[in-house]
Amino acid sequence: MNVELKYFSGTGNSYKIIDTCKEIFIQNGNKATLSSITDKSDINEDADLIGFCFPVYAFGIPRICRKYLLNLPIFKNPINTFILITAGNIDESGFSVEESTKILKRKGLDVTYSKVIQMPNNWTISMNPPSKEEAQLIINTGVIKAKKIAQNIIDGVLDHHAFNYPSTYGKFGFYKDYYTFKWLGVSNMWKNYRTDETCDSCGLCEKICPTASIQIVDNKPKWLKTCEQCMRCVNYCPKQAIFQKGEGSIKGKNIYYEPTFKPLKLKSKKHNKSNATDAKSHAAD
Ligand SMILES: Cc1cc2nc3c(=O)[nH]c(=O)nc-3n(C[C@H](O)[C@H](O)[C@H](O)COP(=O)(O)O)c2cc1C
Repeated sequence: MNVELKYFSGTGNSYKIIDTCKEIFIQNGNKATLSSITDKSDINEDADLIGFCFPVYAFGIPRICRKYLLNLPIFKNPINTFILITAGNIDESGFSVEESTKILKRKGLDVTYSKVIQMPNNWTISMNPPSKEEAQLIINTGVIKAKKIAQNIIDGVLDHHAFNYPSTYGKFGFYKDYYTFKWLGVSNMWKNYRTDETCDSCGLCEKICPTASIQIVDNKPKWLKTCEQCMRCVNYCPKQAIFQKGEGSIKGKNIYYEPTFKPLKLKSKKHNKSNATDAKSHAAD
């Protein structure tokens, strides 16, 4: 079986989950290709199985993922497709699966499997992520779940995530957050980024941004409107110098990125594409 895998990942959770699935597919004698949606590479229409893995942002999928799915061609053959969503709270995946499924069905794909997997919350700007130790336990459980899911998919199991309203939100709060982020929030939040006096202009944020939304101007990072709020810059900043106006400094908070996720390494590998069927190879981000 030829498996084509696509992901978007700010801090490595979604990458970890889809890369784990890739390993299981390969161990079972399949060919699997993994790449980021930011690569803009086409999906092979001769694939036997397509898989997507995205994070949930404010009860939906990130804007860049929505645009990517909407821009897919119409597939002539209804290829089996699965969707995995990583969420900071298993109860708060909102419409993420439903949104993706709806678009993929419109594109002629046959969505046979969808699941939400809990991974550590990376929204450091607005909340405090778990400690390193707590995060590792959550990751370990997520990886076990991903292995089972990949095996289920190979075995032809059909299963779908069932939508639920998050238990700690009333319906009003839920819809308010979903639509505010989708239609207003994400388009404006780039304007609120600031750095404090500990920023030493190292430029790491600019180098690792998955959407090339940061430029160093007069020795300070400047965010562009293509920013997706993925939190990579915030969590990888060696000085914890990045914050958003209105939310306050993140100093003293836990920071989070999946510990094996190395954005700089991934970026340099982009120009040096490795063997797609090698389970150890890293896709470009
Ligand atoms: C802007 C933003 C919004 C988020 N909204 C939600 C949410 O609505 N529900 C949830 O469970 N987690 C939410 N999270 C947490 C992420 O979905 C979760 O940590 C995810 O695994 C991150 O994946 P990544 O490391 O691949 O980027 C949010 C994170 C960010 C940055």
